[in-house]
Amino acid sequence: MTGLAYNNLAQEKIWLAGGAKIDGEVAISGAKNAVLPLMAASLLSGGECIINNVPRLDDVLVMLSVFKELGVKADFCGHTLRLDCRRVRPAAVEPKVLGRIRASNLILGPLLARFKEAEIGACGGCSIGSRPLDLHFAALEALGAKILPLEGGYFAFARELKGTRVTFPFPSVGATENLIMAAALAQGQTVLSGAAAEPEIVELAAYINAMGGKVCGAGTPTVVIEGVKSLRSASYTVMPDRIEAGTYLLAGALAGGEVLLRGARRAELAALLAALDAMGVTWRETAAGLVVCGGSRRAIDIVTAPHPGFPTDLQPLLTAALCTARGRSTVRETIFENRFTYAAELKKMGASIQIRDNCAIINGVPALCGADVAAGDLRAGAALVLAALAAEGESLIAGVEYIDRGYEDMVPKLAALGADIRRVKLRARAV
Ligand code: UD1
Repeated sequence: MTGLAYNNLAQEKIWLAGGAKIDGEVAISGAKNAVLPLMAASLLSGGECIINNVPRLDDVLVMLSVFKELGVKADFCGHTLRLDCRRVRPAAVEPKVLGRIRASNLILGPLLARFKEAEIGACGGCSIGSRPLDLHFAALEALGAKILPLEGGYFAFARELKGTRVTFPFPSVGATENLIMAAALAQGQTVLSGAAAEPEIVELAAYINAMGGKVCGAGTPTVVIEGVKSLRSASYTVMPDRIEAGTYLLAGALAGGEVLLRGARRAELAALLAALDAMGVTWRETAAGLVVCGGSRRAIDIVTAPHPGFPTDLQPLLTAALCTARGRSTVRETIFENRFTYAAELKKMGASIQIRDNCAIINGVPALCGADVAAGDLRAGAALVLAALAAEGESLIAGVEYIDRGYEDMVPKLAALGADIRRVKLRARAV
């Protein structure tokens, strides 16, 4: 039988000729990981919510298809999203839809709080680890919910939700968000210890408070939520995406030139900026955002950790930048157990990387070379784009669908900075 290099459908890839210096400015979009919980929290409101600065990403569109099945009327115009939640019903959502993004589990807390029942499917997302929901369930059960496993999902119900003390053994971002949303409409006070402190949690609390909620302490390990009877409409502007900003900071470090990241905020990127300092990359803060300049890079040792530690979502991107740093770097991943699959692809580009348990050991090489590579998840895709930007020769990167989940206009943004990059559609060919 004749083998086919690609299937019969045209497959989209990113083509990139490395070596072009990038220069200029790039606008940072609204944060994916903030907007998805904000959308979920809108289900708590019996009115119309307006979220501004919403990035046009595939994950947002999938969440909107979940919302359609729940009876939400949505209007997504430009970067403004209007969600009319007056006729929401806690319907069972098609498992295939729920299975497409991990953040679909965030409908559990708000639906349970507002309707005392919710059904979710087995949630999807990037395959970077096992990603169980045990902390979500334990927290909701502490408020009085019962969770029943169904074939391919879960059904949650409660007579009432009552505030209580909850302690997380690990600061899960999603479980913190689900608990805050459920407790926002519970009876009495909930005190959550061991909460995740990511900036997106601060954003969620601010949004719920704008709806008339009472959430204090977000951004610290202890969050106190006073339940209220109902939440009203709100209008809110989403924070800039710190992971997208980190991506372009590292792109500038690899292939700059001088690049202004319009809207990027220093405080939320402190761990990456400290890493750039240690690598010898120069950057500065201006009123418009952060500016990064390329330059030579030194090897460093990094360990990922919950906020304010080094973010796991930037780990593959930092590794890509360290492939051509002077010396031997180590990158230890402590959040997800399967987050180094992209290393094999970087090796095809000439990188010297060894994976030992949860640690990547990277011996810097003078330059990478272009190659035909494939991304297996969102940040891995972005890491391969960064590596290809600075590599010698042409690269073809498959897995564009992952990049589209979390980066708004990545290809046009890099092209506007001077990168020689475009999307191409390849037809089937016999090999
Ligand atoms: C969120 C982010 C994701 C980021 C991650 C860690 C969104 C939409 N996604 O994912 O981009 O990489 O935070 O910063 O905001 N865990 C359990 N049991 C649970 C929940 C989590 O064992 O009930 C484990 C996970 O398997 C993982 C770790 O805790 O090993 C971190 O997960 P969590 O913080 O919950 O990440 P997400 O909310 O899924």
